[in-house]
Amino acid sequence: MLTTLPPVTFVPDLGLAVLRTPNSVYALRVAPDGSPRHVYWGRPLGTDVLAGLPEAASPAASSFEADAAADELAPQTGARFGPAGLQVRFADGTRGVQWRFVGHTADGGELRLRLEDRRRPLRAELCYRVRPGTDVIERWTELTHLAVGDGPIAVDRLDSASWTAPPLADYRLSHLVGGWNSEFQLQRDRLPVAETVLTSRRGLTGHHTNPWLAVDDGTAGEERGEVWSTALAWSGSWRVTVHRDPVGRTTWTGGFGHEGIGWTLRPGESLRTPVYAGLYTPHGFGGASRAWQAHVRRHVLPEPERDRPVLYNSWEATGFDVDEPGQIRLAHLAAGLGAELFVLDDGWFGTRRDDRSGLGDWTPRPEAFPRGLRPLADEVHRLGMGFGLWVEPEMVNQDSELYRAHPDWVIHSPHLDATELRNQLVLNFARPEVEAWAYETLGRLVREHDVDWLKWDANRPFTEAGWDGHPDPDRLWIGHTRAVHRIMDRLRADHPGLRIEACAGGGGRVDLGMLARTDQAWTSDNTDPVDRIGIQHGFSQLFPAQTMAAWVTDSPNTTTGRRTPLRFRFHVAMAGALGIGGDLTSWSEEELAEAAELVAHYKRVRPLVQRGVQHRVVVPGPMAAVHYAAPDDSEHVLLVWRPTTRFGHRPAPVRLPALDPGARYLDPDLKQEYSGAVLVARGIDPRLPDGDHASSLIRLRRVGP
Ligand code: DGJ
Repeated sequence: MLTTLPPVTFVPDLGLAVLRTPNSVYALRVAPDGSPRHVYWGRPLGTDVLAGLPEAASPAASSFEADAAADELAPQTGARFGPAGLQVRFADGTRGVQWRFVGHTADGGELRLRLEDRRRPLRAELCYRVRPGTDVIERWTELTHLAVGDGPIAVDRLDSASWTAPPLADYRLSHLVGGWNSEFQLQRDRLPVAETVLTSRRGLTGHHTNPWLAVDDGTAGEERGEVWSTALAWSGSWRVTVHRDPVGRTTWTGGFGHEGIGWTLRPGESLRTPVYAGLYTPHGFGGASRAWQAHVRRHVLPEPERDRPVLYNSWEATGFDVDEPGQIRLAHLAAGLGAELFVLDDGWFGTRRDDRSGLGDWTPRPEAFPRGLRPLADEVHRLGMGFGLWVEPEMVNQDSELYRAHPDWVIHSPHLDATELRNQLVLNFARPEVEAWAYETLGRLVREHDVDWLKWDANRPFTEAGWDGHPDPDRLWIGHTRAVHRIMDRLRADHPGLRIEACAGGGGRVDLGMLARTDQAWTSDNTDPVDRIGIQHGFSQLFPAQTMAAWVTDSPNTTTGRRTPLRFRFHVAMAGALGIGGDLTSWSEEELAEAAELVAHYKRVRPLVQRGVQHRVVVPGPMAAVHYAAPDDSEHVLLVWRPTTRFGHRPAPVRLPALDPGARYLDPDLKQEYSGAVLVARGIDPRLPDGDHASSLIRLRRVGP
């Protein structure tokens, strides 16, 4: 059986490395010139077959190129003219490395290939990891300056990994684009014969793109077709360059940092990249998403088994206008709906009455909370809810005590004017004293106010980045993000039970690096349910529903002005980690009662939504539907949305291909029984009411055979 073979094998005589996941194989070979080259990534094949396969090269046609071999991490030397994953400059001005292979370790699921430059004291380790029960292969690189006494080495680019798709008749790229209020828009483009760069130069993962992509031959669908997909676990600037060459091969290389920023490696130092993960599936985009989501649950999230609470957040209700009586009133209303967590958002600290001042001064604003936050926190706890607090620790207003005391703490190039965005500047968390301040300040807040949940926001990108007086100022780009990750890790370790919500003006910083230390992400500031259907569709390409924070807010929606029924708003938000963000003081008694009922419905289906297997059974169009299945097939929930009716046509039945055709299923709400064969082959009536903004929630329970 292929699946019982070890996850990692290295055959020294052949220089062949084979990585096996339950449903895929990845193979590479160390070429005679010392460079690891890609051989195969796809359906399982035996090692003997892989040993006979050639490297994935585009053959040379003339003296203008050599065979364009697919490097596992392309250096800048040799007849290689594609994007290099490793770009270095030595003290004497020489660019690029030439490898010799010096050894490997294969330990459990981890493989390390050690390469050293033929002449210079530079070592790279190409690292691979396969973890149990996942088709994801994790890759990263470690670069070490070996010689003490030698000059520094300028690292202009150190990618985590380069990937190669097999020869296909055509290539199509799926990726996520958008902006503030329009994150995670799924885009599918035919790949041009060119270098296509996906990148963030913002110091944040970005709203406008995400370091996830999928490649197929242009024919894959939601449930069928081969898909190769990768995702970078990094929360700062990044770059992925996809190269479709004229001979027909497609490779891509990616890692942290955007072009033009570097890192100086001093003698004895190492630089380790973030993980760049990849998977192959023959089961289409849906299969790829399910594999990613399972991996995120099993190997990325810190506490995947904990229910994400139904939260209430006051931001859309009160904006900056927060005070103790107002928040207590909202807390009572939220508790009445069944909320389990109350989050006090922006405006509670310093002199913060709007976005012009106070950011950085993390003590309660006296006019708003004259007795501090403790009375609110205590009341929230007395009501049976957790207490959550909004923070934006990386940012500062110039009009703040913090900035007046430490103007040198901001990211700032001394010879450039600083651009303010939302009246704020970015603190340089790469400075150890700033990281220490943030860690202590946040720890104190959590302790003093009995905080159960931090919503960690970041509302602007970096500009004019510099670090006055530092010999290697570009380090701030990587150092800042590492410090953010480290502080979160330390806070979680210090305060078991503390949960963290990732936010950057909505979904501006959602990636596998962030999800390794947070519980969920604020998906978008756009809470319009019609827009959210598309945003959630894009989000689900990589991330599981339990990490997708989704609030029900007021109608008309503050972003779009669209009016939608409460039930539709709830049904859309129930597809993720449900929250409520409306001004509950303006909701009628009937609305509050309906909302309480819908919250109770959500709690019944929450285990399925948050920990079930997701099938996007109708991709967004005139109608959209998502099916969540218990892994053992015992329970199911289907959410269906139709934003607009068209021509008075009746909606088509929704087919549920993940059900067992040999089983019977009961709808416990209608007490109606169905044969699995019918639900798979013909589908279920989506039971949508007439009119626009129609939705339904259908539960099914396996009752036989
Ligand atoms: C942006 C976030 O996405 C919002 O939810 C809210 O927290 C505001 N920042 C507060 O300034």
